[in-house]
Amino acid sequence: MKIDNKKNKYFPLIFGCQMNYSDAERLNTVLEKLGYTKTNKEENADLIIVIACSVKQSAVDRVIGKARNWQIIKEKKPLITILSGCILPEDKKKLKHKFDLFIDIKNLDNLANDLKSLNIKEDLSLPSFFNIQPEYESKYRAFVPIMTGCNKFCTYCAVPYTRGRETSRKSKEIIKEIKGLLNKGYKEIILLGQNVNSYGLDKNKEIKFPELLKKIDQLDNNNWWLKFMTSHPYDLSDDLIKVMKNGKHINKYLHLPVQSGSDSMLKRMNRHYTIKDYKKLVNKIKKEIPNIAISTDIIVGFSGETEKEFKDTKKLIKDLNFNLSFISQYSERKGTTASKLYKDDIPKNIKKQRWEIINDIIKENSYEFNKSLIGKESEYLVDIVKKEKDKYNNIGKLGNYISVHLINDKPLKIGKIYKVKIIEAKHWGVKAKLIYAKTK
Ligand code: SAM
Ligand code: SF4
Ligand code: F3S
Repeated sequence: MKIDNKKNKYFPLIFGCQMNYSDAERLNTVLEKLGYTKTNKEENADLIIVIACSVKQSAVDRVIGKARNWQIIKEKKPLITILSGCILPEDKKKLKHKFDLFIDIKNLDNLANDLKSLNIKEDLSLPSFFNIQPEYESKYRAFVPIMTGCNKFCTYCAVPYTRGRETSRKSKEIIKEIKGLLNKGYKEIILLGQNVNSYGLDKNKEIKFPELLKKIDQLDNNNWWLKFMTSHPYDLSDDLIKVMKNGKHINKYLHLPVQSGSDSMLKRMNRHYTIKDYKKLVNKIKKEIPNIAISTDIIVGFSGETEKEFKDTKKLIKDLNFNLSFISQYSERKGTTASKLYKDDIPKNIKKQRWEIINDIIKENSYEFNKSLIGKESEYLVDIVKKEKDKYNNIGKLGNYISVHLINDKPLKIGKIYKVKIIEAKHWGVKAKLIYAKTK
């Protein structure tokens, strides 16, 4: 197959978490280097690149359906299709032949070689994948990968099989990338890894995560925010709590997935902590950093989840007052330990029911938490400005991900941080007013 890549358009179709969106930003750079320009319309594309996610079967099914459509389109017009992202070996067998090219997410440093099969004329001398200068989607918020892969092997999870073992980036490269972003005026940096607490402990011996975070936090610039995700509760250290507590730029926000409120369930999930351990950790963090907001992940309907186990999860969410949680209904993933050891025996309607019950508790917690913010002053980062009659609704987020609506006579600047006072609580977030209009 020959391609004329000049003036051609590519369409990235991305599934899954920020890790995939971040990889896509680097893959986009490579396609642009080859002369492609991005289109937001799938039907206009000459090349489609799928970045797949394997956490749930529904996302895999969508890729299968799309691939079928593209095979029909290819009979009518030239179209190149590329598959990458997180794919389980079983799905790879089914899907690979439906695409022109498969790019292995575990070996992105082989990208230049992989692309050769498309008969590209350009000399593609690429640096290692993480050193490719990404085409960031946002001009003020950047997701910066610090590591990839996972060694934890939670029994339900596909990630260790799709992304392979943990590999950390060199701290010097990460710091250089962030310095560049801050110089360009970026306001929010979010460090990414499946478990950031394992940073530097793999074969690429490096400084540990608290030290890396401290070095980044010390980078001088105007007001900017620093976040990281995800932290596995098993190895979140006292050093990390100390760095968070003393950080200048680190938001008082932590994503700490618990997955279940039941010890027997956590054991089946291979999570390596008990609810007592988790509560002890949360209390220690809250004691050191009193105004911290902690969000979590919950899976409902995992194999064999009894009424008692589910009741324990409800209780934990109430006890710890989680106000933000990503709730998932268990989806069996072929090849994982859970799929070999346990039956996916909770009916779909029960999974959905349990999802709704947890969601309602979180919604109530969120309302109570938002009410506690009334009268407080805080900073917020503007994402969207909407004209509503003769006023402007300036929508953004506090450092702890709480949504803010701020009605003002004038529009605020997207991507800037403003100081506000919280004046009203809603289930979905808060309303606020500007304290002073000086942007930072
Ligand atoms: N590394 C993180 C941690 O320690 O929990 C989570 C990363 S995982 C890619 C993101 C979330 O997807 C998990 O926290 C879990 O709640 C959810 N998840 C993973 N596998 C799942 C499955 N088979 N079915 C439903 N949800 C799943
Ligand atoms: Fe998956 Fe567990 Fe690794 Fe998170 S820590 S990516 S849930 S295996
Ligand atoms: Fe993320 Fe899905 Fe991969 S959640 S790490 S994109 S399997």
